[in-house]
Parts: sequence; C-alpha cells; structure tokens
Amino acid sequence: NLTASIAGFHFQDLLLNAAGVHCETTEELEALRKATGTGALITKSATPKPRPGNSGLRYQDLPLGSINSMGLPNQGLSYYLDYANHYHDQQKPLFLSIAGLTQADNLAMLADIQASEFTGLVELNLSCPNVPGKPQTGYDFEATRQILTKAFTFFTKPLGVKLPPYFDLAHFDQIAAILNAFPLAYVNSINSVGNGLMIDSKTDTVMIAPKGGFGGLGGAMVKATALANVHGLRQRLNPTIKVIGTGGVQSGRDVYDLILAGADLVAVGTSLHQEGPAVFQRLRSELIAEMDRKNYTEVDQFRNRLQTL
Ligand code: DHB
Repeated sequence: NLTASIAGFHFQDLLLNAAGVHCETTEELEALRKATGTGALITKSATPKPRPGNSGLRYQDLPLGSINSMGLPNQGLSYYLDYANHYHDQQKPLFLSIAGLTQADNLAMLADIQASEFTGLVELNLSCPNVPGKPQTGYDFEATRQILTKAFTFFTKPLGVKLPPYFDLAHFDQIAAILNAFPLAYVNSINSVGNGLMIDSKTDTVMIAPKGGFGGLGGAMVKATALANVHGLRQRLNPTIKVIGTGGVQSGRDVYDLILAGADLVAVGTSLHQEGPAVFQRLRSELIAEMDRKNYTEVDQFRNRLQTL
C-alpha cells in the first residue's frame, strides 16, 4: 500500500515527476499519466506567456547528478490550464506549477486559475534559480510572506509551494514560521541546489551555456540536502501541511529514505530525465522490495519515523 493524501486528493501511488522534467508538452504529460508507478503528475512551471527559455546547451548529466539552466521554457499558462481542463484521470491527480518572474505575474496567474474550472492542485514555484537577474523568492523571507498573504486573500483552491534548499537551521525556523501562518496544502522540497558550477576536464570549459555555466544541481549529489530539508521542514511545519520530497532519488531506497524523513509523496527529476517514465515502475518495485525486507506492507508504518542516535 503506497497511498497518500493531500488536501482531500487521494494518491494510489506516491511517485510523481519533479516539475520541469518530462512535462512541458501534452505528449510528455500523457506519458507520465500512463506510466506504471506514477500516482500524480505536475506540469512544467508556467509563466503567463510562452517562453523559449535560455539559449544553447542548458542541461547536462554528470557522474553524480545533473546541472541545468533551462530558463523557464514553457508553453504558457493557458496551455497547461487547457490540458488540465481536459484531464479526467481521477486515479492520478494533476498539479499545475506556476513560476511568474514577478509577484504581479504570480498573482495574475493565481487569479486566472481561481476563475477557471481547474479542480486540481496548484504549486507556486518560489525557487527557480535560472532566470538571469531574477533572484529566488524563497530566499527572501519577507517577499515569501507577502506573496502568500496576497494570494490567500482570494485563492481558495489547494495550494502548495516549491521551495529552494535551505542550509542553515535558523533559516528552517524562519521559513517554517512563515509557511505555518497560511492554509497551505503542502510544501515541495527541494528545488535544485542553485548556481553550482561544473567543469569539463577535457575542454577546461563550463558544462552548460547560459549564465556563464552556473546552473541548478540535481540528482545524487543533492540527496543529503533534500533529506535535511524534508526532515527539517516536517519537524517544523503544522501537521496539516503535507510534504512532497524531491531530490536525489536514484533507487527505491532513496524513495524510502525521503518517506522516513517525512515525505508524503516523492518526486523524481534527474533520474526521470536519464531513464524516461519507465523509471517509476523500477522505483516502485525497488521500494516495495525494501519494504518487504523491513516487513512493512504500508508506507504509514515508516513515514516520518526516522530514528536518532
Ligand atoms: C527552471 C528551473 C527550476 O529549478 C525551476 O524551479 C523552474 C524553472 C528552469 O530553468 O526552467
């Protein structure tokens, strides 16, 4: 039994894609919906109008993960709202991700979604690190409080936020205190570890073209940061705020670890990029095998039960 629930939505499986990976077009989204092992799917973060994203090579797989600076290529909010309004799969709830470049864009998109027939969950992405000149809202605590204050004056559909990784326990305290003041359905932690830099030893060049090579890190190298953020937030957030754990999942044991640290659902980015939607069936069966070894039949038997020494 790998079920979970958030804001009255019931998930028959607890895996989904990390926003941005394999979810820009309806074809990619439909492949996620049909994949064995997914319990939900999320759309590429939308802006009010379509964007081509950054130019040149903008994603690279690395020995220990990935680096990207996509720059928010997406089809625009109405494309994803249109997909959502034709979406009828009750078994796999749909999350709509939005990432405005300004507070005004975010509020305008939330107003459009509120006025639409959309009946799924919305993820407000406060953590895109890749748009030149645009700092991440999630690292500005007052801006985070302000956007949520304004959003909840009119937005009544289930809303979660995608957070950047935090690296100081004082920051965990500060962001949790802000988030706990709002009726959020969930938080999704972590987005990529922003603005890493990797070098190709053959050519002595950076690995991606935009922003002089700086980009968001994902995959195995961010697993410990993801676990720390999921656990640190789970310890601090109101129990009514669920947690989606994202970061560093390569195996069923990695999924298990995020659940042990407190995750309700688990999202997969770099491994999905590398293996395609078949990754979910593999991770699901590896998770079940790990649960069998521990004599667990339900995720509830170990969720948020991480032990200390
Ligand atoms: C992009 C990257 C992110 O990590 C994110 O949260 C949103 C967008 C991007 O570069 O497209």
